[in-house]
Amino acid sequence: WSSTARKVDGVLEVGGVALPDLLAEHGSPAYVLDEADFRARARAFRTAFADYDVYYAGKAFLCTTTARWVAEEGLRLDVCSGGELAVAERAGFEMGHVGFHGNNKSAAELRRAVEVGVGRIVLDSFVEIERLTALAAGLGRRVGVMVRVTAGVEAHTHEYIATAHEDQKFGFSITSGDALEAVRRVLAADGLELLGLHSHIGSQIFDTSGFEVAARRVLALHAQVSGELGVSMPELDLGGGFGIAYTTQDDPSDPAQLATEITKIVDHECRALGIEVPRLSIEPGRAIVGPAVCTVYTVGTVKPVELDGGAVRTYVSVDGGMSDNIRTALYDADYSCTLASRRSDAPPTLTRVVGMHCEAGDIVVKDEFLPGDLAPGDLLAVPGTGAYCRSMASNYNHALRPPVVAVREGGTLVVVRRETLDDLLATDVGALGG
Ligand code: LLP
Repeated sequence: WSSTARKVDGVLEVGGVALPDLLAEHGSPAYVLDEADFRARARAFRTAFADYDVYYAGKAFLCTTTARWVAEEGLRLDVCSGGELAVAERAGFEMGHVGFHGNNKSAAELRRAVEVGVGRIVLDSFVEIERLTALAAGLGRRVGVMVRVTAGVEAHTHEYIATAHEDQKFGFSITSGDALEAVRRVLAADGLELLGLHSHIGSQIFDTSGFEVAARRVLALHAQVSGELGVSMPELDLGGGFGIAYTTQDDPSDPAQLATEITKIVDHECRALGIEVPRLSIEPGRAIVGPAVCTVYTVGTVKPVELDGGAVRTYVSVDGGMSDNIRTALYDADYSCTLASRRSDAPPTLTRVVGMHCEAGDIVVKDEFLPGDLAPGDLLAVPGTGAYCRSMASNYNHALRPPVVAVREGGTLVVVRRETLDDLLATDVGALGG
């Protein structure tokens, strides 16, 4: 839950706004974004990683309003598509503070990034090095770049595997020598300025041991480049991936502790390698926006289903689902939820909260004990939906994507409005279309 969430006589309030009032005004369902919480988490990273550049990973959730909050809190911005770059431009984000990622940026996207002067482009393939070199020459520009490397570490939820996870699409392999070769080619390209190496090991990571292994390998390459090629790269990016709590009250992402541990790891490795510590950067997304949002739904139907053995599970259908939160269906992610609109003293019942879409896997919350008297019209709130929910939302079944309503000190501000049928039909330009 975001830090301002609290229940008053059974009614959930966020940012001083009672959620039933918010839905009455803005409709259901809605993503409720706690501005103070978002800013506080951004600031916590900024403060803890004071000597680093902190790039907010826009893929977690980006709109012009949050881009502005990010800038106001002193963070930079990581974008990974022309669309995200366009949002940054619209928000007036300082382009020198934008990093551009992606394993298959189009020529048009790269051109735009160079034209507007993004601070760094993170290179992901030899093809891209050639493409960007030609572009920079054509535009007569010098472009700051990083080389994304595969550290051979793949971090998953609650675990990491420090063996060769080279069999994936991102980055240049260190072990095969591709990463060093990429560095050579960048150095040979007139229009490219090599800023450093970039490593991102995964997402929803809870301990720093994966970062330790990655940092050791990436810094070894960093040292090799300065030793063998005589080039000292000024920067190093360790990526994002800091985990958040989805189903418990405790919040495991303590930026201060992360900063201490990561800095210690890097300092130790640099000392061992006899190199200076480069300017470091990180790219948290989920840890900033994830807990700042909850999704509020309205219950439509309640259906007790008898399970093998006689137990009963209550299926509660809400007016959203996998179109606004694909993570349960896609990753088997766990969420929790609470009755947000009234007090209930009814005994808790094993409940599955499901969406309105035409498939059985359309589950929002797999198992939750909710009051046994849930009824149509009740509101349910699911916390921790700020990251990769709106940003991965779809129009499946021609659903209209919900709005994002920011709350602060008792007031609301729609930062992304609800889609309308006209929005949907606007792209339908066939026989009967516009
Ligand atoms: N930097 C790079 C290069 C990344 O690829 C990512 C995430 C991040 C930073 C931010 O990671 P974060 O701090 O948000 O974990 N859709 C998945 C997550 C995909 C993450 C992709 N890259 C999910 O819903 O769990």
